[in-house]
Amino acid sequence: MDKILVLDFGGQYNQLIARRVREQHVFAEVVSYRNTGVEKIKEEGYSGIIFTGGPNSVYDEASPHFDPAVLDMGIPVLGICYGHQLMAYMAGGEICSAGSISEYGKVTLKVEKESPLTGQVPKESTVWMSHTDYVRTVPQGFTVSAVTDSCPCAAMECPEKKLYGVQFHPEVTHSEFGSRMLHNFIFDICGCKADWRMEDFLKESVASIREKVGDGRVLLALSGGVDSSVCAALIAEAIGKKLTCVFVDHGMMRKNEGDEVEAAFSKWDVDFMRVDAGEQFLSALKGVTEPERKRKIIGEEFIKVFEQVGKKIGSVDYLAQGTIYPDVIESGLGDAAVIKSHHNVGGLPAHVDFKEIIEPLRLLFKDEVRQLGRELGLPDYLTNRQPFPGPGLGIRVIGEVTKEKLDILREADAIFREEVGKAASEGLLPQAASQYFAVLTDTRSVGVMGDARTYGYTLALRSVTTDDFMTADWTRLPYEVLARAGSRIPNEVRSIGRVVYDITSKPPATVEWE
Ligand code: XMP
Repeated sequence: MDKILVLDFGGQYNQLIARRVREQHVFAEVVSYRNTGVEKIKEEGYSGIIFTGGPNSVYDEASPHFDPAVLDMGIPVLGICYGHQLMAYMAGGEICSAGSISEYGKVTLKVEKESPLTGQVPKESTVWMSHTDYVRTVPQGFTVSAVTDSCPCAAMECPEKKLYGVQFHPEVTHSEFGSRMLHNFIFDICGCKADWRMEDFLKESVASIREKVGDGRVLLALSGGVDSSVCAALIAEAIGKKLTCVFVDHGMMRKNEGDEVEAAFSKWDVDFMRVDAGEQFLSALKGVTEPERKRKIIGEEFIKVFEQVGKKIGSVDYLAQGTIYPDVIESGLGDAAVIKSHHNVGGLPAHVDFKEIIEPLRLLFKDEVRQLGRELGLPDYLTNRQPFPGPGLGIRVIGEVTKEKLDILREADAIFREEVGKAASEGLLPQAASQYFAVLTDTRSVGVMGDARTYGYTLALRSVTTDDFMTADWTRLPYEVLARAGSRIPNEVRSIGRVVYDITSKPPATVEWE
């Protein structure tokens, strides 16, 4: 099997690069620059290497560097963003701070010369940039192959040594021909064959779970969402009845959700258990307003419940979670910065009373998880569900979480989801709404109803369009849909006095508000 090494220098999109490569049926793995060297790379027999982006400047002493011998191994290298600057720096080029002309977001790429990397890419196309430094002088033997209005070296190359660098991010979907350029690199420059499939991942995962668990028992944290449901099906395929699925109703689920999850999973051929722990979670969250603290408390309470259940069942060695890659990367594991502690990763306490935590989906993205679910034969209503975060409405009630606020949010959120869902099923949305929900802010505002003054909460509606949740755009919902939600919500949920729509993409915002 041909494989590509994604050499991780700490960027936010590193796994996304691997995902884009795997999507073209070539295996790719992300390895931190700290954990490998030229010798190891040679032993592994990679067909190509991609240097990732990173938050640093190559001239910072503390910034990641690598043995320049990697450029002379004869293995094709593609540098992206920081990786592009690092390649230029290692080969003797000059890097500069772009200062006020730094580029963030969509810009027009202009291809200046024919190159194997830009085959079938038009002379002008949109790419996604996010950088403050840029390559001012390319190293000897390199030429500039593309520019933007502000960046004199948006792409450079030395085809004789199979070295290529791009300042933009071809891995994000907003780069129009990004996948094409990665395709050109993998197949035309590295000469890979497309022979890696999700069914191989499935077979390997089943075998490795069986081997690891042996005669032990596994407790699975099931929320009813896509990730934990696919995880349940995968582990059940491997070890059958040695798996117990535990659904913890933490009192912060959406309207009717607890009962729906119970109804769906009690029909499955697995051991299913529901634990009502609403009071426990709410009392742990009393008086807490800081989002990271809330996330950590929720993560800790989850583990406490699983430990209690594990003791009750007896001889449970492993806790399984449906953690996926974005949870890992945003929680700041590896070399990336902490964005938010996803309850099942950064929110975990230091000590967990299980032999090990098993996370078979840890390397996958949402759309890969859906694909795996289909491979496992899960029904569409499960594999196509929109995601719901483990901490639930706890991170959609801004500030302190109380039962009263949760009840208000549950009602308002149900109305908004009903309106968007209806419009989607009638084919009235101009683009897919990948995830839509309401957020109860802690801002109150004055209004007037029936000649009387009101002072209600402000509710924010959020809908995003994305396929990997690493970057996302706000959905252009039809005015009619927004108008219906904006009129129904304050009328049907009296504590809400004002409704606003969130028009921020990710970045700079995140999908959830906390
Ligand atoms: P953000 O807010 O990080 O969200 O842009 C990206 C996706 O992840 C979901 N999300 C979570 N999922 N545990 C989860 O299981 C969490 O702690 C968590 N935080 C965010 C979010 O709903 C979106 O789909």
